[in-house]
Amino acid sequence: MMLLYAHSGLRYLVLLAGIASVLYAIFGFATGRDYDKTMRVLGGIFAGSLHLTLLIGIALLFTGRFYPQLTGHIFMMIFAAVAGQIVPSVQKRRPMEERTFLPHAIGGIVAMALIVGGIMAIGRPIFGSAYS
Ligand code: HEM
Repeated sequence: MMLLYAHSGLRYLVLLAGIASVLYAIFGFATGRDYDKTMRVLGGIFAGSLHLTLLIGIALLFTGRFYPQLTGHIFMMIFAAVAGQIVPSVQKRRPMEERTFLPHAIGGIVAMALIVGGIMAIGRPIFGSAYS
């Protein structure tokens, strides 16, 4: 049960980091400011927290918690993790002066949409739990 609470609770950190990362990227793009460390860190926290939630989800499967509906949850979350990781990985390979905000906004919005879809795939509320 501990794993499930951790998995369920981490979702709030993922959603918060995702919203903060997208809003900061849109702010950076709209104001035309130079790419900065804050954007890099927010993008990293979003991708990292998503991967951690995903790992705990996989551990949950090994506790025998599986039913067919979860397949949609799992695939959407894997695609969300890919969408959330591609941008920080590509940006990291660019020199700082060539990095831009817009990819973080687009990648973040795609990842967040997949996360919401993945939670809805098992009929759960985006903010709320079946266990409280
Ligand atoms: C491959 C990755 C993942 C696997 C295998 C997985 C697996 C699971 C499992 C087994 C459950 C419990 C279902 C139940 O008892 O009915 C669950 C619930 C849930 N998962 Fe995942 N999950 C994954 C990724 C994610 C990610 C990345 C997020 C969020 C960012 C997430 C959010 C949730 C939420 C919100 C619930 C419902 C918890 C509740 O009702 O309190 N999952 N997941």
